[in-house]
Amino acid sequence: MSTRLDICRPDDWHVHLRDDATLASVVADTARRFARAIVMPNLKPPVTTVAQAEDYRRRILASLPPGTGFQPLMTLYLTEATPAEEIRRAKASGTVFAVKYYPAGATTNSQDGVRDLARVYGVLEAMEQHDLPLLLHGEVTDPGIDIFDRERVFIERHLVPLQARFPGLRLVLEHITTRDAVEFVSAGPANLAATITVHHLLLNRNALFVGGLNPHHYCLPILKRETHRAAVLQAATSGNPHFFLGTDSAPHPRHAKESACGCAGVYTAHAAIELYAEAFEQAGKLDQLEAFASFHGPDFYRLPRNRERLLLEKRPWTVPTEFALGDATCVPMRADKIVAWSLVEG
Ligand code: DOR
Ligand code: ZN
Repeated sequence: MSTRLDICRPDDWHVHLRDDATLASVVADTARRFARAIVMPNLKPPVTTVAQAEDYRRRILASLPPGTGFQPLMTLYLTEATPAEEIRRAKASGTVFAVKYYPAGATTNSQDGVRDLARVYGVLEAMEQHDLPLLLHGEVTDPGIDIFDRERVFIERHLVPLQARFPGLRLVLEHITTRDAVEFVSAGPANLAATITVHHLLLNRNALFVGGLNPHHYCLPILKRETHRAAVLQAATSGNPHFFLGTDSAPHPRHAKESACGCAGVYTAHAAIELYAEAFEQAGKLDQLEAFASFHGPDFYRLPRNRERLLLEKRPWTVPTEFALGDATCVPMRADKIVAWSLVEG
C-alpha cells in the first residue's frame, strides 16, 4: 500500500501563465493542481488596467480544458503612471486581487516598473485605504549591489521605509530566498506575508553549475547558498501563517534559456505540488504541507479556503525531457529525472 496524502485543494499565490499559444500550453498544468492562482501581470505590454486584466482573465478561462473549476485571480502591474482611480476600480472589480510592484529592470518584462517608489505613494495610499495587497519583487536593481545580496538590501532600503509610511498596507514579499527575508517576515506584523517557490526549497546555488552551467536553474531572485535554502525550508514547514505557496512557475522557450543571454525563470507547474511534497517530506514535515499550500494563502487574502480535496501518492514518475510551448519547447524542472510523488486523479 503506497503512502497517500489527502489535502484541501491548494492554490498558487504567484504564477506566470503568459499569453496566446504559451498560455494554452501551460495553463492546464496549474489548473490540474490548484483551485486558484494569483496571475502575474508582466505580459508584453504589461497588464496595467482593470479592463486589460479582465480581458486577460477571459483569455485564461478560454484556454482551460473543459470541466475545470480553476479560478484565475488577476493582478495589476504597477507603473509610475498608474492612477489612484485604478485602485478603486480594481477593488470594486471582484476580479483583481492585488497589485504587483516590479523595480524597473529587476526581471523579465519589468522595464515599465517603478524607478522611484516616491512617485507611486499616491497609489499606495489608495491601496492602503481600499485594502488591496501589494506584491513585491523584493530586489534592488543597483548594479553596485552583489546579485546575492539584492533581496537583503531591498528589505533594508525599501521595505522598512515602505512599512513605516504605509503601516496598514497588506504586503507580500514574493519568492523569498534568504534567511534575512525569513527573519524579517517572521518578526513582522500580520499584514506582511511571503510566498515561497518550490525551486528555492529544493535547490541551492550549486544547482546552477552541476555538470556545467545550467540555464534551466537560472531564476530571479537567483538561487542562494545552502544556509539560506535551509532557512527558507524551515520557514515553509514551520506552520507560521506568514508563509505560503507561490510557485513563480515561469516558462520560457528552450532557445531563450539556452542562449548567450538566457532568460530568468524555472517552469515547475507540471509537478508543483508533487515537488513541494518532496521538500516537506525531506524536512520531515509532510503534516505541514496542507497549511502552507491550502490555508495560509486564502487566510491572508481573506478568501475562503477551498472545499475540494487533492490526493497525492508516493509513486515515482519521470518528468519528460521537454514539452511543447506554443511553437517552441520548454524544459521543465527535473526534466528526465524522477519526482517521488504523483497526483491521484478521478
Ligand atoms: O525567474 C523569474 N522569472 N523571476 C521573475 O521575477 C520573473 C519571471 C518571469 O516572468 O520569467
Ligand atoms: Zn514571478
